Amino acid sequence: MNHHRFTSLLMASISLIIGLSLVSAQSTPPPATPEPVDLTCDLAELRQKQAELAALLTTFEADAESQTGVALDNLFKVGQEYQQLALDCGYIPADIAERPIGTDVERILNTLDRVYGDPINGQLLYNNELACAGCHEAGGGTVAPHTEGTYSRILDVRLTDPLFADYSPEQYIIESIVNPNGYIVPNYNPAMPTYYGDTLNLQQLADLIVYLESQDGPSPE
Ligand code: HEC
Repeated sequence: MNHHRFTSLLMASISLIIGLSLVSAQSTPPPATPEPVDLTCDLAELRQKQAELAALLTTFEADAESQTGVALDNLFKVGQEYQQLALDCGYIPADIAERPIGTDVERILNTLDRVYGDPINGQLLYNNELACAGCHEAGGGTVAPHTEGTYSRILDVRLTDPLFADYSPEQYIIESIVNPNGYIVPNYNPAMPTYYGDTLNLQQLADLIVYLESQDGPSPE
C-alpha cells in the first residue's frame, strides 16, 4: 500500500468513526427531565444550603493532589447532599418510580401521580415478595387487621376518627406503611416493620395502594 492510499484510508476510517459516533449520540436522547414542580422550600434557604455545600468542596483541589481518596469521598458525599437538597425542595427526578419512597408522606403524595398502580402486581407483592399477608391474613385478624375489607374499613371507620379529619384514604394507607407506629390500630401491637420507607420504591407503593383499594367489601368477623 503506498503512503497516499494509506493516509486516505485512515482519513476515511476516522470520518466513519466520527460519523457513527454522531449518529449514536443523536439516537440516544438525554434522559428525560420532568417538569419542575412547585418549590416546596424557601428559595433563600435553598441558596444558603447550596453555598454551604459549595464550601465543603473548597479544599478539593488540594486534596485531589495529596489525599485522592479523601477528595473523592468528599465529592461523593456532597453530591448526595445536593441530590437530597433538590428532592427536599420538591424536585421530582425522572427515575422517581424506582427510588425509595422515604417516610415523608406529603412528598410521597406529591409524587404519586407520576406512576400508575397495578393491582395485580400489588397483590403479588403483598402476598409473596413483601409478605404483608403473613401478618394480615395468616394471623386470621389476630396479628394484624384483615386484608379483606381494608379499604371499606379505612373509609367507614378510620377516617371518621377526628384524628384523621382531613385525610384522604391514600394518605392513611401511605402513613400506615411508611410510619406504622404513628398510629396503632386499637387492640393491636405495634408489630408492623418500620423499614418500608427504605425498601419500597414508588411503583411498588402505588401497586400496593391500588391493591388495597380493591379490598372494598366487609371485613371478616
Ligand atoms: C409483622 C407483621 C406485619 C407485616 C409484615 C405487615 N404489617 Fe401491616 N400492620 C401490622 C399490624 C400489627 C397493624 C396494626 C397495628 C398498627 O396500626 O401498626 C398493621 C396495620 C396496617 C395497615 C392499617 C390497617 C387498618 O385497618 O387500619 C395497613 C394499610 C397495613 N398494615 C399495610 C401493610 C402492608 C402493605 C404491608 C406489606 C408491605 C404490611 N402491612 C406488612 C402488622 C404487619
